[in-house]
This record gives sequence, structure tokens and C-alpha cells, in this order.
Amino acid sequence: MSDHAARQRVIAAWDEAADHLEGFGAEGDFARQHLLNPTIFTLAGSLAGKRVLDAGCGEGYLSRMLARRGAHVTGVEPAARLYALCAAHERREPLGVTYHQGDLVELTLPPQSFDLVIANMVLMDIPDYHGAVRALCAVMRPGGDLIITLLHPCFEQSGAQWPAQRAVETREYLAEFERPQTFATLFHRPLSAYINLLLECGLALRRVVEPRLPDGVTLDGNDRDAHVPSFIALHAEKLATP
Ligand SMILES: C[S@@+](CC[C@H](N)C(=O)[O-])C[C@H]1O[C@@H](n2cnc3c(N)ncnc32)[C@H](O)[C@@H]1O
Repeated sequence: MSDHAARQRVIAAWDEAADHLEGFGAEGDFARQHLLNPTIFTLAGSLAGKRVLDAGCGEGYLSRMLARRGAHVTGVEPAARLYALCAAHERREPLGVTYHQGDLVELTLPPQSFDLVIANMVLMDIPDYHGAVRALCAVMRPGGDLIITLLHPCFEQSGAQWPAQRAVETREYLAEFERPQTFATLFHRPLSAYINLLLECGLALRRVVEPRLPDGVTLDGNDRDAHVPSFIALHAEKLATP
């Protein structure tokens, strides 16, 4: 299967999962509320007046949170039903977010037009992640920031096993491979593949966060993320002179 066909297959699967994402609250699901959003907003710092790209924005909850904090937000989402949810939300409650339906690998936004690019739980869904990251770098201004969050490639086992095992199993880490997940499919790569790609694109790594559940917060008693992180965030800066 060509890379383009593989991307279309994943995008079609996310289109079918639109009902699930539509069920998100204003700040996303439990993991987003307690792990991903606090990490992203801490890393992003002040948002007022910043031009921000929410790359692979899903149903758009993060775009809306960013806009409410004063950012000028563009959301890009390829799946038609998810894009339609974003657009409908913007019509119901205008926040000034501009949405485009598109594939990150074929991004057509103007070069160097964003102060901050966020890819929240997206890159492990894209077979050609090199192409996607290069396209994101092209639209960042020199000195701009990139924040990516990923399912932590070291600890991808679902949290459902945690209460019984109190451990996370990893059997194959070093290889790059595809495996099904609850929605669509996951492209596993070792962490070094992502970090080295950022460095090859002329970015400087500024911070790595492995989000931890706050004390006393669990998902129905499951405290896996107080012990082993499900997610990792990488914050990088595009050097003015690479
Ligand atoms: C796990 S969801 C995350 C959505 C959103 N960022 C969030 O956190 O709610 C993955 C998203 O990546 C999008 N996606 C998959 N392939 C893509 C591609 N080639 N370009 C842009 N987005 C893509 C999917 O359509 C889906 O919305």
C-alpha cells in the first residue's frame, strides 16, 4: 500500500470514530483534562496574540481552549466528519478559529506563519511522520515553538491491564510497526526516531514532559498514570539559524 493510501485509510478510520470524539467535553476526555492539557498549556506559556496551529485537531476542543486564552488559532483536520464538527461548533459559538480540512503531509498553509504549532496525539497516527513534521516545521516562524504529544512509545500497553498487573509490558520497542488501537491504528516508533527527526529539522529540544496524574486523581480508581506515563510531550524551538 502506498503511503498516501495508508494515510487515507487512517483518516477514514478516524472519520468513523467521530461519534467518540464528539462525546468529548469542553476540555476533552479524562487523559486530556488531567494529563495532556496541563502539559500543553504549561509548555505553551502566554497565548495572547500568538498565531497557533492545532495540527490534526480532531473535533477541535483544543483549538477552542487556545482561542479562549487569546490565541489566533488555525485548526487542520483531514477527516470530513471531524472537520464538520469543528465548523459547526465555530458557527454555534464563534471564537475566531479558522479550520481547514487537510492532511498534514500535504499542508498548504503559508510558510513561517505560526508562532506555535501543536500536534496533540497525532503523529503516531501518520505513517509518513517525517513528511508531517517537515511540513509543520515549514509553517513555523524562526524562533517559534513546536509541542507534540504522543502515546508514550515505551509504555503503549493500554491502562486497562494496570489494576490487575500493576505493571506495563513492552515486548517490541526498537522496531517500527503498525498495530490496531481502539480507534484507527497506531504506528509505533522508538522515541529516538521522533527526537532525532526534530533535531534533523533544525529544531532544538527545550523540554520533555512525561505527565503524571495529580495526587488523588484517578480514572475510576485506575492510577496507572501516577506510576507509568501513558503519554510524553516534546517541546522544541525552531532555531533562527539552524
Ligand atoms: C487521537 S486523534 C487526536 C485529535 C485531537 N488532536 C485531540 O487531541 O483530540 C488523531 C487525529 O489525527 C488526525 N489525523 C490522522 N492522520 C492525519 C494526517 N495525515 N494529517 C492530519 N491529521 C491526521 C485524525 O483524523 C484525528 O483527528
